[in-house]
Amino acid sequence: MHWRHKDLLEISQLTPEEITHVFTTAARFVEVNQRPVKKVPVLKGKSVVLFFSEPSTRTKTSFDIAGKRLSADTFSLAKSGSALQKGESLNDTALTLEAMSPDAIVIRHEHSGAARFLAERLQCSIINAGDGWHAHPTQALLDGFTLYQIWGSFTGKTICILGDIAHSRVARSDVELLTMLGAKVRVCAPRTLLPPAVLTWPVEVFNDVSQGCKDVDAIICLRLQLERQQAGLLPDLREYAAIWGLAPRHVAQAACDVKIMHPGPINRGLEIASELADSHASLILDQVNAGVAVRMTLLHLYLTRSRVLA
Ligand code: NCD
Repeated sequence: MHWRHKDLLEISQLTPEEITHVFTTAARFVEVNQRPVKKVPVLKGKSVVLFFSEPSTRTKTSFDIAGKRLSADTFSLAKSGSALQKGESLNDTALTLEAMSPDAIVIRHEHSGAARFLAERLQCSIINAGDGWHAHPTQALLDGFTLYQIWGSFTGKTICILGDIAHSRVARSDVELLTMLGAKVRVCAPRTLLPPAVLTWPVEVFNDVSQGCKDVDAIICLRLQLERQQAGLLPDLREYAAIWGLAPRHVAQAACDVKIMHPGPINRGLEIASELADSHASLILDQVNAGVAVRMTLLHLYLTRSRVLA
């Protein structure tokens, strides 16, 4: 498949065929990641800037590892320690970075639309690693790939996304990807944590966790995005945990081989019971593992824009 995109900003840019191509390519990189020497020369001479102005463990590290395993040079720029802290605008920071001729910038930013802003101005590829509440396409691709490795197909599968839907870029991107691949998607949250636009999403809405989990094949828990919430949306975190935190009694309602997922970082005992996060049904660490192969795939596709794989 010839890769026609310069940038990855949101899932809706991709076709189901392109998403499947990402999955089949990622499966080959999973194999590379199991070798004693986990390095291939496909991106030798390419440079990738990791520009993260919000905190990140999984996304940043896995892009860094992914780039290095493909022999690209990766460079990190964080808000603290950069001129962003001295009041430099996003535009000026981006132009400065581009003057150093990177082949791609992976950007995480607190403002929705930041990745598109760069994509419209810069020649290099822009990969959105999470922009505000808007989108987190690489997380959706790794979530989808994690399930694809187990299920092979999404037909007939039902997935419940549980928690802070309103402030979650992961929820928005997961809904787009999973419905595009043929899954039925439910969202389950207190009314104050549902965005008004949810009525236009291709999902079923639930306000009760047991009902939302009934007969589902996978449950994706979300972190409460307290840093993005206005005061007053939740009366009390203990009450939230008691009513909305995923507990064994909810999982008992789901299909017997239900999979439990979470993009991380997890707040044990708040949005998910600790024993569920560590249970045999949990795919949380498989998601992290899949993330490296998916990000290797994306760097490969966007930086070579061809289907050749070493
Ligand atoms: C998510 C994010 O940053 O949107 N984390 C991640 O990338 N693994 C989810 C979150 O922060 O809750």
